[in-house]
Amino acid sequence: MQVRLPDPALHQCRPSSAPKQCRSHSRAAIGELGAGQREFTMSDWFDTMEDQLWLHPDEVGEKEAQFVLKALHLRRGDAVLDAPCGAGRVSFHLARAGCVVTGLDLRETFIRRARLRLRTAGLHGTFRAMDLRRVNAENQFEGILNWAGSFGYFTAAENGQLIAAFVRALLPGGYLLVEQPNREHLLRHLRPVMRKGTTVFQSRWDGQSQRVITRRIVAEVEGRRNSSSMRLYTPAQMRVLFEQHGLIVEQLHKSIRFDAYGPSAPRMIIVGRKARKGSKMVQRTGAFQPCRAE
Ligand SMILES: C[S@@+](CC[C@H](N)C(=O)[O-])C[C@H]1O[C@@H](n2cnc3c(N)ncnc32)[C@H](O)[C@@H]1O
Repeated sequence: MQVRLPDPALHQCRPSSAPKQCRSHSRAAIGELGAGQREFTMSDWFDTMEDQLWLHPDEVGEKEAQFVLKALHLRRGDAVLDAPCGAGRVSFHLARAGCVVTGLDLRETFIRRARLRLRTAGLHGTFRAMDLRRVNAENQFEGILNWAGSFGYFTAAENGQLIAAFVRALLPGGYLLVEQPNREHLLRHLRPVMRKGTTVFQSRWDGQSQRVITRRIVAEVEGRRNSSSMRLYTPAQMRVLFEQHGLIVEQLHKSIRFDAYGPSAPRMIIVGRKARKGSKMVQRTGAFQPCRAE
């Protein structure tokens, strides 16, 4: 099985090539910071976090992949980008279903695990350790997934550029899916201090930057503390981001059961389709159209 993504397409960095903002979507509409305000982003969080604290257990991968296959209307032979892919939990099952999978993740050890997992099962896939901000492919994928709370790590501008890069990488008519925490739920249930074993997490919401900032302190390891910062988007803000970059928002779910989003849901999953050449962008003003399971 051939992977259509050539190396250079992923390795050149062209952050300035993000599309210009459409006037109808003002900075305020997506909660931009004003002049002089500053934003914090992810530090070495992922390099020092124990896997089990943030990677889903392997067993759920198959169900997650079943959802992704349906939501993105993927068929055997379709090219899919899993970014970031972690250790390939979902990619593995997408490959097993016959998709041509490319997985990207910053963490080398995860990429090695993903490669090994597929190779051991006699499956093919392309996995590469790289920063998502370097994605630079054009018209190559039928589907792209950003799965399990992997959006909002960068500055607001970079988050927008990432959506733009994903859209460029999609074939016309292809689908982008982003799965993330539901901001409304998270803010209502944000616990300032949380313990998992000997690790303590201190979290706070920064309203100006619209980010959750979490300090992690490992009690028994002297000096091991680091912080993460994740920008959280409301469904309306995500929709603006998608539409700004030429996606038609088609689905909003609260879980992999295809149930419609609601403010009390812990998660949200948004799916947009890249407009085909010549077709008009339809900007719906009404409610989201949840997709039903077939
Ligand atoms: C919450 S995990 C989800 C991973 C995967 N989607 C899954 O479901 O297992 C987030 C992933 O983002 C990766 N990551 C963090 N910053 C990144 C960056 N700048 N570029 C690429 N990957 C990054 C981490 O290594 C981690 O594997």
